[in-house]
Amino acid sequence: MKQILSLLALSAILILPSCGGAVSQKEGENEVISAIMNRRSIRKYQDKAVPRELLEKVAECGIHAPNAVNAQRWEVRIVDSPAFIDGVTQVFLEEAPEAAARNSFFKNVFRNAPAIICVAGAEGRFTDIDCGLMGENMMLAAYSLGLGTCCLGGPVDLLVNNPKARPFYDALQFSEGYTLRYILAIGYPDEAPEAKARDKSKIQFIEY
Ligand SMILES: Cc1cc2nc3c(=O)[nH]c(=O)nc-3n(C[C@H](O)[C@H](O)[C@H](O)COP(=O)(O)O)c2cc1C
Repeated sequence: MKQILSLLALSAILILPSCGGAVSQKEGENEVISAIMNRRSIRKYQDKAVPRELLEKVAECGIHAPNAVNAQRWEVRIVDSPAFIDGVTQVFLEEAPEAAARNSFFKNVFRNAPAIICVAGAEGRFTDIDCGLMGENMMLAAYSLGLGTCCLGGPVDLLVNNPKARPFYDALQFSEGYTLRYILAIGYPDEAPEAKARDKSKIQFIEY
């Protein structure tokens, strides 16, 4: 009996930190904080497909983000088809042929990623917030899986407003009333950029 109790106590010690938080870790340092601090926008990717299970896991982490009254007024579309990615890129290059020449590693308009996750939201006061929270969940989940991401606003306008890109947008099959908010480029990183500075003076304690 004594042995069983000691075993139970030992397993509680081993299990508790992973359930309840970073009990044994230095205060202010844990894997979540490390992921937040070390994630970077990636704009150069390896020529390596991302397994669909991982893309799905990332999207699933997205829809587990907090959202207003759990209305889930978002839709997510994952695309890893070269025909789609290269097709939209072709439309982009017709408008801006110099873009490829400017960038020696240019592969496509989605910051060279082999896959994209497109997020649309319905009309609503909180939809942008919901979609934004979903995005960071996905980027951190991707980072934890060894994947790089870049949130993209640029290609949204191309997809939504360029008549030649419209068939690609329609292929995403968003429901009536939903509009594309942003696209996440995702893939295995082929660069490790330095952190971009943040202005800490934006944070203030208020002495009241
Ligand atoms: C809403 C939004 C739109 C963005 N659009 C683009 C884009 O079109 N192209 C791009 O290269 N990066 C884009 N970014 C990435 C930002 O440039 C990047 O997050 C910022 O420079 C900070 O760098 P970091 O993500 O490495 O910390 C976008 C980010 C957000 C949140």
